Amino acid sequence: MSAVTSTPTRPYDDQKPGTSGLRKKVPVFQQENYVENFIQSVFDSIGEIGGRTLVIGGDGRFYNREVIGKAIRMAAANGFGRVIVGKGGILSTPAASNLIRKNKAHGGLVLSASHNPGGPKEDFGIKYNAANGGPAPEKLTDAIHARTRTIDRYLIADGDAPDIDAIGTAAFHEMAVEVVDPVADYAALMEELFDFAAIKALFASGFTIVFDAMHAVTGPYAKEILEGRLGAAGGSVRNFVPLEDFGGHHPDPNLVHAKDLYDLMMSSDAPDFGAASDGDGDRNLIIGKGIFVTPSDSLAMLAANAGCAPAYREGLKGIARSMPTSAAADRVAQKLGIGMYETPTGWKFFGNLLDAGMATICGEESAGTGSDHVREKDGLWAVLLWLNILAVRRESVKAIVDRHWADYGRNYYSRHDYEDVETGTANALFSELRDALPGLPGRSFGPLTVEKADDFAYHDPVDGSVAEKQGVRVLFEGGSRAVFRLSGTGTSGATIRVYVERYEPDPSLHHVETQEALADLIAAADAIAGIRRHTGRDRPTVIT
Ligand code: G1P
Ligand code: ZN
Repeated sequence: MSAVTSTPTRPYDDQKPGTSGLRKKVPVFQQENYVENFIQSVFDSIGEIGGRTLVIGGDGRFYNREVIGKAIRMAAANGFGRVIVGKGGILSTPAASNLIRKNKAHGGLVLSASHNPGGPKEDFGIKYNAANGGPAPEKLTDAIHARTRTIDRYLIADGDAPDIDAIGTAAFHEMAVEVVDPVADYAALMEELFDFAAIKALFASGFTIVFDAMHAVTGPYAKEILEGRLGAAGGSVRNFVPLEDFGGHHPDPNLVHAKDLYDLMMSSDAPDFGAASDGDGDRNLIIGKGIFVTPSDSLAMLAANAGCAPAYREGLKGIARSMPTSAAADRVAQKLGIGMYETPTGWKFFGNLLDAGMATICGEESAGTGSDHVREKDGLWAVLLWLNILAVRRESVKAIVDRHWADYGRNYYSRHDYEDVETGTANALFSELRDALPGLPGRSFGPLTVEKADDFAYHDPVDGSVAEKQGVRVLFEGGSRAVFRLSGTGTSGATIRVYVERYEPDPSLHHVETQEALADLIAAADAIAGIRRHTGRDRPTVIT
């Protein structure tokens, strides 16, 4: 009997990777050969595999273990020489990125649906990261998608994959299966980047923190680093045991799903610093005593103060942000005299800039911030950089935010999401909106007059590739703007995202309630896109 089986299969027509890989409901992944087809399509698209290394891990959600078992058996059959798997199948997305880079792996399979809920009827995802540790670029995801449409067989090794619950190396067919501590290498990297002694001294001085791991993957990482190595008080890390269904919650660190933390931070019992991360550990939520820091502001403030941390003491090479992210960071780049890059939504677009040494810090409005230490956004990294800054400046978060606004001006910013809109309705809205773009300049909506309107196209300065239709931008006279795009990560219906932003230089106007400060823009955005008219909704599902 042969050790490898070539199993005939038929293509599925819904395996197009989105913003963050292939993301579907668990029952979709449970269809016959669904997982196998996708993984084989990846292996068929990534070039010569012969004897190389593959990293495998996920955020521990329901179905993680089954898929890891299949992935190990298929990696052996496809000729990998070694797989590195996080113990128990656990690897945060940034930790997986680090392992790929550190071990010079061919790439990695990252199993997660990020901040989406988990469980037998909830979400699952498979993403391939390339040798630089970052999400596969469009060229590769297009090739993978094309392969899913023609696939007729997959290769799988016979027998059960080795146990992944004990650290150590086992042989499986011709391949080594190395089960590693998911935290060790990542924690070592963080110690290299940040001034742990200064942060330790901050905690020793009585500084308090609450970190909510949301029963997701960062629990073990945060416990080891914050409490174990940095001396934060026992109990500072909450909900630290990763659960297959995240305790029934959405592991999404925003003001809706991390409301308990938010309420605590606004109360008189607030610790000095509150933070949370998402399902797979790449997003962050930062809240000071009495003040929430928006991700766009956080990016700007981290960039402005990065020199407090040893890794960034020599200065930043450049800053990159996704197009819908506020322009707060642009002002920092301008002051520092460094490059500023505006990319489409999705971390994969930062990869080339980071690889080419053009950008050091990147961020998205959707709670993702990171640097060139890995090729993913990194939730705990953002928390540690904030702590490093606080340890050096010894001011409150609020004082740092107020100072930043006074120095640079404030970019009022908000995102309105309309979730689970019927796909046809959403498509009709966007095609009407795109048709209307040429007629918008010069038109007024309330006090706002449109200066420019376009559909964002990105020309990658490194490889010259072009990504079109990355979001509709309406720019008003005076610098305010509204951006409209469709989510590429949803798993049911369509999600319409509307991003609004207004710049306010006057410090006496820096403490207006955000929705109020943006009211004219919000009304203009609705008038332009006809959201109410198309969807019949009179308010967004989520406001952040
Ligand atoms: C969302 C965010 C985007 C992020 C992605 C993956 O994508 O908006 O910034 O990179 O999740 O975490 P979207 O659903 O908008 O396509
Ligand atoms: Zn995530």
